[in-house]
Amino acid sequence: MVCLGNICRSPLAHGILASKLTSKEHQVDSAGTSNYHVGDLPDKRSIEVARKNGLNITNQRGRQFQIEDFDYFDLIYVMDESNLQNIVKLARNAEDITKVKLILNESHPNKNLEVPDPYYRGNSGFDNVYKMLEEACEIIAKKLNT
Ligand code: 4NP
Repeated sequence: MVCLGNICRSPLAHGILASKLTSKEHQVDSAGTSNYHVGDLPDKRSIEVARKNGLNITNQRGRQFQIEDFDYFDLIYVMDESNLQNIVKLARNAEDITKVKLILNESHPNKNLEVPDPYYRGNSGFDNVYKMLEEACEIIAKKLNT
């Protein structure tokens, strides 16, 4: 799960998907395209919206996406078009690129919708982001759990 800062959107996507997967054979992680928040806890508002929905994401710390993530992960979900461009720029070959997907295309196929960056918004932005990610992760988990 990838966003810009790895403190708002991708930690939520990481926590939500991990909570829905039934097999230990799947591993979920998240990262930011930037290094702005390396080592930081998720944003307080993400921690709070997760907590309200029964998830604890305080074990997560910010990290920056690394080229080796292309080797380690089969699926790389990005939150918006800017994340998509930034990750595709790092891709080394066509196989890397095929792993990268806009997460909302899971719940809204081919629409190329974005998870809006809630960093400069109030708490309602985080409720909205949570809802979108919950819906998309439910679909991802259904596929991976079969
Ligand atoms: P995120 O939100 O990409 O969902 O983690 C942001 C967090 C921090 C910043 C931007 C977006 N920032 O500019 O510090």
